[in-house]
Amino acid sequence: MKFITVKTYEELSERAADLIAAQILVKPYCVLGLATGSSPVGTYKRLIEDNKNGKIDFSTVVSVNLDEYVGLDGTNDQSYRYFMNTNLFDHVNIDKSKTFVPNGCAEDLEAEGEFYDTQIKALGGIDLQLLGIGLDGHIGFNEPDEVFTAATHEVKLDESTIKANARFFANENEVPKTAITMGMMSIMQAKKILLIANGAAKKEIVEKAFFGPVDPKVPASILQLHPDVTVIYSEN
Ligand code: GLP
Repeated sequence: MKFITVKTYEELSERAADLIAAQILVKPYCVLGLATGSSPVGTYKRLIEDNKNGKIDFSTVVSVNLDEYVGLDGTNDQSYRYFMNTNLFDHVNIDKSKTFVPNGCAEDLEAEGEFYDTQIKALGGIDLQLLGIGLDGHIGFNEPDEVFTAATHEVKLDESTIKANARFFANENEVPKTAITMGMMSIMQAKKILLIANGAAKKEIVEKAFFGPVDPKVPASILQLHPDVTVIYSEN
């Protein structure tokens, strides 16, 4: 594992965007695993600049996102599909039909999960998976549990996650109680993992996840078993 500590969020975003840009340059037909949340916003801004100034080309890139709230469709401004469109896809030359986000409105979420994993396999797997980390150690929406769940699946969100994400909604009651998330299998099968975290509030969970025991109660700790992980943490 490469653990990089930087001083500012700007530096974190620049380093993360550079690693993603390098992936696209080395393999233009790559599959990027993408994440939502506030952490990657700066990274996406840099990637948009890189695309606008001709440094990177998204035309052959395929993306798969980690998760989606159950019940929110892409027109809902709180959905992760909407987040990805407005924070990245609408501003770069990616083919939107090759950007995949789990369907949180699928009637049969179990079938949607199976379909999502099959689709990732059919794409040849993920070349680089970008991850944030929740305050409780979740990655995607894989919440602390007794076991690590392999497949893409429906999850009940923890109270702490609902509280943490309420800042994006009008109030806490509007936060969906369930989500569909890529499971640990597709994440762990990604060729490379890049996890970004910033701020003092994340320091303790980042230390637990990467320097404590591997434990499903700290979902991100499974990444210690992955052969190619880069963590970038910024204090601010
Ligand atoms: C959300 C997302 C995660 C994200 C995490 C941290 O709930 N499902 O993919 O990594 O929480 O979010 P933030 O970056 O806003 O702290």
